Amino acid sequence: MTQSIRKVVFPVAGLGTRFLPATKASPKEMLPVVDKPLIQYAVEEALDAGMKQLIFITSVSKRSIADHFDKNAELEAELEQRGKKALLETVQKIVPDNVSCIYIRQPEPLGLGHAVLCAKPVVGDESFAVILPDDLINGGEKGCLKQLIGVNEQQGFGVLAVEKVVKEETNQYGIIGSNPLFDRVSKISDIVEKPAPEDAPSNLAVVGRYVLPGKIFHFLENTPRGAGDEIQLTDAIATLLQSDSMLAYEFKGKRYDCGSKLGYLQATVEYALEHEELSDGFKRYLQTLCPTLS
Ligand code: G1P
Repeated sequence: MTQSIRKVVFPVAGLGTRFLPATKASPKEMLPVVDKPLIQYAVEEALDAGMKQLIFITSVSKRSIADHFDKNAELEAELEQRGKKALLETVQKIVPDNVSCIYIRQPEPLGLGHAVLCAKPVVGDESFAVILPDDLINGGEKGCLKQLIGVNEQQGFGVLAVEKVVKEETNQYGIIGSNPLFDRVSKISDIVEKPAPEDAPSNLAVVGRYVLPGKIFHFLENTPRGAGDEIQLTDAIATLLQSDSMLAYEFKGKRYDCGSKLGYLQATVEYALEHEELSDGFKRYLQTLCPTLS
């Protein structure tokens, strides 16, 4: 029987240079998509998947992330006094009482693999999840991490969320080689970080959701710097594959690459179109820009 996964790591130490100057003094993970910061979508997906310990790997100038998930007594008192009940509830329920937030500093920007390794003292040798908040995933009824955990619970192996990308973009992702097992699930045979299209084992790209066994830390500790002179999670997974099976799962849902301005704008438009209060007004506005929009 597999043990339940309750710990999730959010690597949020990156500088976010692609969004400068917006991210000069504010973390990229705090960029809002409509009315919630990106990191809150990631946390909601983790809570929906049953996570109880949220482990944030942070760095300097990321304090507002911790503030966002902390109680703001002054704000709550003010909302209470003004009778703004709905808003009060919105800010109070961001993190339920039975869930804890843990913040660990990554002292140097040594890469995603190193960031994940920083969680070792809290995770220990248990299996755990990783969510990269840049990849915003609308999984519809079942969040992407919940889908992955379902596969892990059934099969008992680590699982990576993957999606097909165009061949020219393989150099932006971890790319897997794999053998199909059954619907949406395949067994990973190979994984390479950001290969050139001609060297890529396929066009199946790893997106920012992972379920990993605790022994990945051992491999991370022994992983030399790789692509971009950084310690790559992908390289540690490649070593793990020599002794352990890992699965890839083509998740259901839509991913927005919110690490890029275009992906971020696409997410903003589509989440606004689905937003309870904004949907109708925003659609009418878009129709004035593009009269053929249905
Ligand atoms: C990271 C990982 C890469 C993965 C990608 C998903 O890359 O290293 O393997 O495919 O996230 O978004 P980054 O986007 O941080 O360069």
